[in-house]
Amino acid sequence: LHVGLLMGGTSREREVSLQSGQGIGAALQSLGHQVTKIDPAVSGDLAKASSVDVVYNTLHGGTGENGVIQGYLEMLGIPSTGTGVTGSAVAMDKVITKKVAVASGIPTPHFAVYSEEQRANLLQTIGASSLTFPLVVKSPCEGSSIGVHLVNNEAELQAALDDCFDLDLCVLIEEYIEGYEVTCGFIGTEVLPLVGIVAGKTFYDYEAKYSRSDTTYHLPARLDESVAAQLVRYSSTLSRTLRLRGTYRVDFLVRHNIPYLLEINTNPGMTPTSLIPKAAQLRDWDFATVVERVLQDTLG
Ligand code: DAL
Ligand code: MG
Repeated sequence: LHVGLLMGGTSREREVSLQSGQGIGAALQSLGHQVTKIDPAVSGDLAKASSVDVVYNTLHGGTGENGVIQGYLEMLGIPSTGTGVTGSAVAMDKVITKKVAVASGIPTPHFAVYSEEQRANLLQTIGASSLTFPLVVKSPCEGSSIGVHLVNNEAELQAALDDCFDLDLCVLIEEYIEGYEVTCGFIGTEVLPLVGIVAGKTFYDYEAKYSRSDTTYHLPARLDESVAAQLVRYSSTLSRTLRLRGTYRVDFLVRHNIPYLLEINTNPGMTPTSLIPKAAQLRDWDFATVVERVLQDTLG
């Protein structure tokens, strides 16, 4: 096949995508496919998509993961890996994702959403919504923990708000759940073994994901069977509702045996330290097998 490999892009996760794309490009070549790299940050590069058989999308964040490029490729009539417009748009927005979870009876940390206009008396407003420190402050549409802050007091809250309102028009504030982070990965309709993540610092931040090596991974996650089954059921419900495709990951925090949904990643990291390749290894699927299965899921 002639595969257009979408990588790089203009989001804040550009560097992560370049790393994911490097590995995927090598895997596609090892499988005998012809690869044309397409970087939307390079002017004119996107036009290359019209001459390939299929697009492999490993853009992370922004227009590469929020439905925009998915819609563009759909208009061109080019098959592309991964979830379509609606699922991508919903999953890129943590607020909408949490509302889908609530409507589906899936636990998610208590939360509230604020615009910059509400900033002046935010502390009182937060108090009224029964959220108390420590809190997690998130920019709703970023990835790789960019714009995620664990805050313990007002000074930290204000610094987090400065960062988040630079990134977006609104901010998501969640109760802090001190729990065990577990991710449920999928490749097509196959559920991968669950991975447990124990961060060296307070949470699994950008550096922990890609550069530090102080994270412990449990392969597979250490959960009671019934809790693991519940977590997989929640993930499958979300997968069906949002028509998730290709490879994707549903992230949870588990506290007192209850899985709380954090977010969904429709174009998860595929770097050497990323979770999907680790989970696939438990299935004895090497990186090239993962890539081939994602292509198969797209082309049928
Ligand atoms: N947003 C990053 C790439 C992930 O979910 O793995
Ligand atoms: Mg994410």
